Amino acid sequence: MINVPFVRYETVRLAVVGTGLRGRGVLREFLNVPGVQVTALCDVVEEKVLQAKALVEKAGQKTPALYFKGERGFEEAIRRDDVDFVYIATPWEWHVPQSLAAMNAGKHVGTEVPAAYTIEDCWKLVETSERTRRHCIIMENCCYDYDELLVLNMIRAGLLGELIHGECAYNHDLRHILFETRDEGLWRRRHHTLRDSNLYPTHGLGPLANYMNINRGDKFDYLVAMSSGHWGLEAYRKEHLAADDPRQKEVYKCGDYNTSLVKTAKGRSIMLQHNVSTPRPYDRINLIQGTKGIFRDYPSRVFIEGQEGRHAWQNTDKFKARYEHELWRKEGETARRLGGHGGMDYLMCYRLIECMRQGLVPDMDVYDAAAWSAPGPLSEISVAKGSSPVKFPDFTRGRWTRERRSVP
Ligand SMILES: NC(=O)c1ccc[n+]([C@@H]2O[C@H](COP(=O)([O-])OP(=O)(O)OC[C@H]3O[C@@H](n4cnc5c(N)ncnc54)[C@H](O)[C@@H]3O)[C@@H](O)[C@H]2O)c1
Repeated sequence: MINVPFVRYETVRLAVVGTGLRGRGVLREFLNVPGVQVTALCDVVEEKVLQAKALVEKAGQKTPALYFKGERGFEEAIRRDDVDFVYIATPWEWHVPQSLAAMNAGKHVGTEVPAAYTIEDCWKLVETSERTRRHCIIMENCCYDYDELLVLNMIRAGLLGELIHGECAYNHDLRHILFETRDEGLWRRRHHTLRDSNLYPTHGLGPLANYMNINRGDKFDYLVAMSSGHWGLEAYRKEHLAADDPRQKEVYKCGDYNTSLVKTAKGRSIMLQHNVSTPRPYDRINLIQGTKGIFRDYPSRVFIEGQEGRHAWQNTDKFKARYEHELWRKEGETARRLGGHGGMDYLMCYRLIECMRQGLVPDMDVYDAAAWSAPGPLSEISVAKGSSPVKFPDFTRGRWTRERRSVP
């Protein structure tokens, strides 16, 4: 499925499976993109489907078919003849069964992140995408954020030289959300009782993979990981929940901090981190070091060899006129006005639909979905073995050496 273009669609007929917070958020983005018709909505909770239906109707579209027939109701929604693309925004445990069902029903699929959390499931996605010739796209919105695309252009123009090292993370204080009695609080905290690993690797790693041309000339080779204790989540629970709340008895496995080091086949190194359970500001790090300079986000700054000020970072503003990505140049105003997360969510949806309508190769394919999600299970294995190195499977089966572009 490398370099496989979509067959052109005049209108993309969309089914959304999982119409919770994220599902409805991304549905709003799709409704703003020209050439999308929403034909089916599915969730296990009727009220959530009805909320999504109201959004579709408010956008002036025909009422879509509605499915709230239990946990496997998605099978019927996905099978419909008037569905071309299935977008999945359900809890993590459903991403793989629903993606497989969509591809087996002949539909292209976009799954929320992570695509999978076992290596076996990563392979199932790859094998099913290859067998059915349907795309399985990881909906990694951070790949479309302003700074990520700005620095991608700067890298492609050679400003940072040969890339050596990157650092990235999902460091986001989710303690309040994890203990809510609705939405993600209903399912996300449970994963902290099941695995000691990087539970959410792709927001930081996806953009870095694009900088380093992973699966497009380089590949992730092996990983070592270490986890801290889980006192952050426990301390929050003790302070914020009643003493007799049954959740006080939950036993957490996942360390507050999981730190992995990844080596690529070309010899680059990556530091990848996950932490959602301590008080701290939001930070995906987004650092990339080359032989001629370094970029670091939060806030966005750069150091280029030979610049004025020998040891100081400089603001990236002066690079924007020249290196702003064409997607932002073209659609940035609409994205900022309409889109969530500063506009990157709109751009992700816009670009996907552009690829489908123009018959282009999608920016991200099933091999990216598998490779970017794999640090979840690989970090679990490494942590369990005292931080031993663990090899990445080569999901491309040797085809990673072909150079090609991800985002345009
Ligand atoms: N890319 C991003 O920026 C981003 C942001 C938030 C969430 N997410 C991801 O989106 C997904 C959903 O997160 P959320 O915040 O919307 O959570 P949520 O709990 O608000 O929504 C999940 C929805 O899935 C429904 N659901 C559960 N099982 C189902 C099934 N078998 N079939 C159909 N529907 C089912 C639930 O009823 C709920 O409405 C997760 O994978 C999460 O990691 C991504």
